Amino acid sequence: MKVEKARISDVAEMHKLINYFADKDEMLARSLSEIYENIRDYFVVRDDERLIGCAALHVSWSDLAEIKSVAVAEDSQQQGVGAQLIDACLAEAKELGISIVFCLTYQPAFFEKFSFSQVDKMELPRKVWTECYRCPKFPDCDEVALIYHLEAGA
Ligand SMILES: CC(C)(COP(=O)(O)OP(=O)(O)OC[C@H]1O[C@@H](n2cnc3c(N)ncnc32)[C@H](O)[C@@H]1OP(=O)(O)O)[C@@H](O)C(=O)NCCC(=O)NCCS
Repeated sequence: MKVEKARISDVAEMHKLINYFADKDEMLARSLSEIYENIRDYFVVRDDERLIGCAALHVSWSDLAEIKSVAVAEDSQQQGVGAQLIDACLAEAKELGISIVFCLTYQPAFFEKFSFSQVDKMELPRKVWTECYRCPKFPDCDEVALIYHLEAGA
C-alpha cells in the first residue's frame, strides 16, 4: 500500500469516507464540489482498487499550509495508513518551501505523534479563517489547532 496523488476517479470514494466520519461528528464534512475543486490537494491510499485513506494539503499563504480531511477506513486503522498520509503531506509542504503546517482537528493526540504542537486557535493567521466562515459550526469551533514547523522538525 502506498500513498499516491488522488485522481478524479477517487472522488466519490473520498467523499463517502470523509462524510462517513463527518456524520459521526469526527471531522468536517466536504461536498463533492469542494473535493473536485481541490483534487490536487489530496493524497490517497488504495488497497487493491479500494480507497482506504485520504488526506489533503492545502496551501493557505506564502509560509502556511493546512492538513485537512485525514480519514482512514475503520477496518484499515492502526496499520500505519494515517501516518503515511501525514508523511506525504509534510513532504509535499517541504518540497513547496512551506515552513508551517497547521491542522484543526478533534484528534490532537494523533497529530502530536508527528510532533505537531497545540496552539491557541486565535494564534493562527487571519487568512486561515476564510474557510471557517462557511463551516456550519462557525463561530463555535470546537476543533483543536496544532502546528508543525518544517524548518525545525524536518
Ligand atoms: C485518526 C486517523 C486518521 C488515524 O489513522 P490510522 O491509520 O489509524 O493511524 P496510524 O495507524 O497511522 O497511526 C499512527 C500513530 O498514531 C496513533 N494513533 C492513531 N489514531 C490515533 C488517535 N485517534 N489518537 C492518538 N493516536 C492515534 C497510532 O497508535 C500510531 O502510533 P504509534 O506510531 O505509536 O504506533 C483515523 O483513526 C481516522 O480516520 N479517524 C476518523 C477521522 C478522523 O478523526 N480524522 C482526524 C483528522 S481530521
